[in-house]
Amino acid sequence: MYREQYKTYIDLLASRLSQKRFVHSMNVAKAAVQLTQRYGGDSEKAYLAGVLHDIMKEEKPETQLQTIKECGIIIDTVTFQGRPLWHAKAGAAYCKTALGITDQDLLNAISYHTTGRAGMSHLEKILYLADYIGEERDYEDVEIMRAETLCSMERGLRYALRFTINDLVSRGKAVHLDTVRAYNEYGKDSGE
Ligand SMILES: [Fe+2]
Ligand SMILES: [Fe+2]
Repeated sequence: MYREQYKTYIDLLASRLSQKRFVHSMNVAKAAVQLTQRYGGDSEKAYLAGVLHDIMKEEKPETQLQTIKECGIIIDTVTFQGRPLWHAKAGAAYCKTALGITDQDLLNAISYHTTGRAGMSHLEKILYLADYIGEERDYEDVEIMRAETLCSMERGLRYALRFTINDLVSRGKAVHLDTVRAYNEYGKDSGE
């Protein structure tokens, strides 16, 4: 499944990530393709988004920040204060500058895979959901998340956003505005 044509990227990924994170990335790629088979969209692009989405995840924080800056991306305060958010912005920046990827939808999918945002494209939604349901995921509600996502993308997004916001708030963490806006569009009950 696209493994051969993206061998260079996959080899690069294997050289940059631990085995655990590499397996996660390949599982996200697989889940993203499965979601396109169910809900439509470009399966090849979904695969590539999955492969590359965490490519900066294990780089040093200063390297992540440097990659973001070099690409001319300005990050807001909540992102700056939330290190787990850096790898998504840095990943998009790396794919653009180091790998020469120009497909803006693909870059956006990587950039927003952690926070989500309002007005997500189909590919952005696919990657966002795939990140929650890859084969190796074993958090407490993963089976519910998988079932909701198999019901519809809307239900999957709603569950994921509620889960994420609840988790962040319960741990006293900041909620990025993009996530709040995504929640207001996809997470809350309709008609309110
Ligand atoms: Fe990530
Ligand atoms: Fe991930």
